[in-house]
Amino acid sequence: MMVLGIYGSPRKGGNTDLMLDAFLEGASETVKDIERIYVRDLDIHGCLACGHCDKKGRCIQKDDMNRVYSLMDQATHIVVASPVYFYGVTGQLKLLIDRSQACFMRWELEKKQGRNPGEGTSGSGYLLAAGATRGKRLFECTVLSVRYFFDALNYNYVGDLCLRELDEKGAILLQPLALDDCRRAGREFVLPPAA
Ligand SMILES: Cc1cc2nc3c(=O)[nH]c(=O)nc-3n(C[C@H](O)[C@H](O)[C@H](O)COP(=O)(O)O)c2cc1C
Repeated sequence: MMVLGIYGSPRKGGNTDLMLDAFLEGASETVKDIERIYVRDLDIHGCLACGHCDKKGRCIQKDDMNRVYSLMDQATHIVVASPVYFYGVTGQLKLLIDRSQACFMRWELEKKQGRNPGEGTSGSGYLLAAGATRGKRLFECTVLSVRYFFDALNYNYVGDLCLRELDEKGAILLQPLALDDCRRAGREFVLPPAA
């Protein structure tokens, strides 16, 4: 079992960083192999829509996404954390998500070549999100983008924890129960489903 945590905020030590730290702390009670990616530290270019991955099943670009592809290949569990930016994920995270198109195309090619039965999912995905406001539809776009990201990877979207009314850096520390919820969600994320 390997858990990959993808930190989507440009703000170091912000609310979603703290949420994901707590989540991974919970997961670490069961899983020792945990990797972290901070998208703010990576050089990830936008998808060029060049069509290379349609034919070859891999991206033609050479940047930090190569390390991300390799970690995503090894992960059995992926958890993504993002603040809401204009009702969606951050721009930095969106670049990573768009580049996962190459994973989807590889999967499709392998299916065509009979190298992959195309059945079942290869892992589990979870979303943590924070937004400043309170609207009922605040997380709709974020959830959809991340849901389809996991779809492209052939991962099962198992759940999310989306917290409202968090704006200032560290605001979540004023809600210690929220971090307990994240810890608990991380613990449960890696537990095998009850028979
Ligand atoms: C560029 C930008 C866009 C934002 N857009 C929204 C928004 O559409 N809705 C919302 O409720 N909060 C919005 N926020 C507030 C953040 O979601 C909020 O501050 C969040 O707690 C930040 O998480 P972080 O500390 O992990 O970066 C925005 C913040 C920034 C900087």
